[in-house]
Amino acid sequence: MPHRQSEAPGRACPLDYRYGATALAGPATLHADALWIAGGLYGNAFALRELEAMVAAECGDTALVFNGDFHWFDVDAGGFARIEEGVARHTATRGNVESEIADPRPGAGCGCAYPAWVGDEDVARSNRIAERLRDTARRTPGAAARLAALPMFRVAEVGGQRIAIVHGDGESLAGWGFSQEALATAGGRRAALEWFAASGAGVFASSHTCLPVLQAFDGARAVINNGASGMPNFAGTSYGLATRIAPAPHPDALYRLRVGQAVIEAVPIRYDAKAWQSAFLAQWPEGSDAHASYWKRIVNGPGYGIDAALRAA
Ligand SMILES: [Fe+2]
Repeated sequence: MPHRQSEAPGRACPLDYRYGATALAGPATLHADALWIAGGLYGNAFALRELEAMVAAECGDTALVFNGDFHWFDVDAGGFARIEEGVARHTATRGNVESEIADPRPGAGCGCAYPAWVGDEDVARSNRIAERLRDTARRTPGAAARLAALPMFRVAEVGGQRIAIVHGDGESLAGWGFSQEALATAGGRRAALEWFAASGAGVFASSHTCLPVLQAFDGARAVINNGASGMPNFAGTSYGLATRIAPAPHPDALYRLRVGQAVIEAVPIRYDAKAWQSAFLAQWPEGSDAHASYWKRIVNGPGYGIDAALRAA
């Protein structure tokens, strides 16, 4: 929805986040035998390292796309620089985090466009985390300009399948239309069908909303949201998730769907959880905003089960 002045920071969706689904109708500019997509790295350099090793182990032509929010907890200047360098080795699109630290929109806060089911306290903490991260970005030469120049989406092709890589949903960088909550509703699935039609994509690969889902649609179409590559996604687990799209399945995938000639799947990123927890605590100790919002999830995973993620048409 357009950004209105009456909306509080962190709730509003800045107007220039809207691209519209027809913007995704152009030719594919990325071609690979195996396409990896990792949204929501959130500054986790251990997940970055593990993911790069997994992609390097592939045969054939591979591409790794960080589809936004690769920064978040990395307020330490050294950690921020490591994420910048790592992401620069691959393909990136910007999320609301990169957009708001590079070029803050007045009143947007973290740019998350949080829906009503996210509480006010969480939204306020996210806005303050974004402020801290902005300070780090300002002290990193060239970072703001690099992040601001990243595109909001990419169109890829794997096995003859058109894949629209977005951060939010089919029309907006911070849209929640590909959240597991929205896709659980008939209205949410109808909106997705309109975005398939307007974009000509057979697959949408998204992130942003923090919980993973792989929703099938009739006519060999699917939406896959990787949740977070840098945080646990399921109760009682400590791995991140990446989306992989390739003609043949990956042996470690947790769940998958075949769409035409392409296999769409969720692959765990088994990073060094203890090392990441220590790095997180060094930046966000008990009593800090990120600790209050995320520590429980980083240690225990969210209240969401793996059985809920794969959904038939
Ligand atoms: Fe996001």
